[in-house]
Amino acid sequence: MRIGNEHYRSIWTEGDGRRVRIIDQTRLPHEFVVADLASLDDAARAISDMLVRGAPLIGATAAYGFCLGLAAGATDRDLDRIGRRLVGCRPTAVNLHWAVQRMDALLRPLPLQERSDAAWQEAAAICEEDVATNEAIGRHGAELIRRIWQDRGQAGAVHVLTHCNAGWLATVDWGTALAPVYMAVREGIPVHVWVDETRPRNQGASLTAWELAMAGIDHHLLVDNAGGHLMQHGRVDLCIVGTDRTTATGDVCNKIGTYLKALAARDNQVPFYVALPGSTIDWSVDDGVAGIPIEERSGEEVLFVTGRCDDGRSGRVRIAPDATPALNPAFDVTPARLVTGLITERGICPASAEGLRALYPEQR
Ligand code: MRU
Repeated sequence: MRIGNEHYRSIWTEGDGRRVRIIDQTRLPHEFVVADLASLDDAARAISDMLVRGAPLIGATAAYGFCLGLAAGATDRDLDRIGRRLVGCRPTAVNLHWAVQRMDALLRPLPLQERSDAAWQEAAAICEEDVATNEAIGRHGAELIRRIWQDRGQAGAVHVLTHCNAGWLATVDWGTALAPVYMAVREGIPVHVWVDETRPRNQGASLTAWELAMAGIDHHLLVDNAGGHLMQHGRVDLCIVGTDRTTATGDVCNKIGTYLKALAARDNQVPFYVALPGSTIDWSVDDGVAGIPIEERSGEEVLFVTGRCDDGRSGRVRIAPDATPALNPAFDVTPARLVTGLITERGICPASAEGLRALYPEQR
């Protein structure tokens, strides 16, 4: 995506293809800072501390972390150690496991001296595939937006509500939930986005709003509790969110609060779509509530908010009494029955085992 006159991805390499660079997302929206990842530890910390976040980008960063951790002639024990270090960084997004397994499966059979070159090529391939996948998600999802616009005689903007950030910053490029929006706008369809702020880390306010502003797309920021009210008043045409892990039966695990939006959408007959690449499907899990590990992050993220003060300096303020503790589950599961459809790179399917198997028959 473009920032000013430059095209950026959320992760890229420079020079000899081995200098890994990212946008430090903890500094947005007020500062645009590019950071280098020079070691396995840098990559692992970037994932744990959320300099990079979003399921597909976590996977791409893990792939480069693998490359950075491989010394010349890396042994099988080195592969084990690198995989363990990366997989422990964040538990919910399945792309992390997916990327580590993909790198491991490619590298383990190779002679030791060939492993490093192969790893760099594979990490680059994962990034290219992610971009192509998300572009395809964008094309399929834009059809939904176009249909709503045409059904109402092309009058006014289509109002899309999204939660958290599943835009290009959460992937290598394009995004998942926002890819249909970018694609539809490119095709000349007027789209307006309702952006949930997404407490506690405010990825909606700091990242989604920033992306949309950069792209010149009409949007408003909402407190997390406003979506249901807007749906009751006919001001949301459809919801599109991302997912960190999708079960084989179509349950989706996404940023905390997604489930409540899906409930409100169902109560108001607003279509609720989830956009995802095949790499976020965990074919080994059928029941999302019982089977997906939910990351619990520090209560500090709930007790404090960070932002820019009126004097222009960045600051962190406590919003609860000193003695109050906080619980901070980072994700929740929306059962398949509340999901209107899954927008994948292979097309749109019902959120069900049959729907997913029809699109991914090789998983039978
Ligand atoms: O905790 P985060 O910011 O990594 O959570 C991100 C989300 O929940 C996204 O919606 C999800 O990863 C899909 S990203 C394309």
